[in-house]
Amino acid sequence: MVDIAGIKMKNPVMVASGTFGYGEEYSELIDLNKLGAIVTKSITLNPRPGNPPPRICETPAGMLNSIGLQNDGLKVFIEKQLPFLSKFDVPVIVNVAGETIDEYVEVSRTLSREPMVKGIELNISCPNVKKGGMAFGIDPKATKELIEEVRASTKLPLIAKLSPNVTDITVIAKAAVSAGADALSLINTVLGMAIDIKTKKPKLATVTGGLSGPAIKPIAIRMVWQVAQVVKVPIIGIGGIMNAEDAYEFLLAGASAVQIGTANFVDVETPIKIIEGLNKYMAT
Ligand code: DHB
Repeated sequence: MVDIAGIKMKNPVMVASGTFGYGEEYSELIDLNKLGAIVTKSITLNPRPGNPPPRICETPAGMLNSIGLQNDGLKVFIEKQLPFLSKFDVPVIVNVAGETIDEYVEVSRTLSREPMVKGIELNISCPNVKKGGMAFGIDPKATKELIEEVRASTKLPLIAKLSPNVTDITVIAKAAVSAGADALSLINTVLGMAIDIKTKKPKLATVTGGLSGPAIKPIAIRMVWQVAQVVKVPIIGIGGIMNAEDAYEFLLAGASAVQIGTANFVDVETPIKIIEGLNKYMAT
């Protein structure tokens, strides 16, 4: 049993926001009950259509995406997506995004009334929207203000998901914890860009996007290690984890749990294989 800020999990392996939808498609492919926790794709107050395509492209050892926080909004989440997940014996952590502090607060407050929701992960690190998102996670004052307001609106465990697109991530980590975050998850995607040399055009319609996958793992390991030196709250390590060895590396850097993201697109069994593989390392 692993306890992250009061969220009780069978093991330290979660699936990362945006790579697992709301579990429905994956439930036909793997046993969701085996997962430590499921983190949903970001929920916003109102439905969002997301950014125009193309919005995903492959890069060496990774991928770039610019989805633009596409989701069906809070109402559909509570009426359809959450009830589906309630059928499983796995903690649901809802990733929350917004354009304004009020939006984060309203979504978080409403989610607090749902017994199936075991925690909130605040997306203050989406690189692909004009308003909100990463803007809250690259400035310590904005981070603190947002988390203080959300903290006052919910008793649920609050996890702040940090952006790597900063000069010193420890400054943001400390601001998040001082504002009341119970745990930190890091890292979100690294801002990147790719150009198709045949068309001479950017590969993503939004030009820039978020880089994920093994390409970012050493950055993530470095940041988890740096943050672990300055905060006492649990850290959830994310960034290019493909196998149990990668996951163990994050635990050695100072993480208490991990999230599997891009690897879900390569092999849907990755989280299950990592859960099994980690047992060997945890026993030593
Ligand atoms: C999106 C959000 C993120 O937090 C991220 O890292 C990448 C993409 C998005 O929905 O565009």
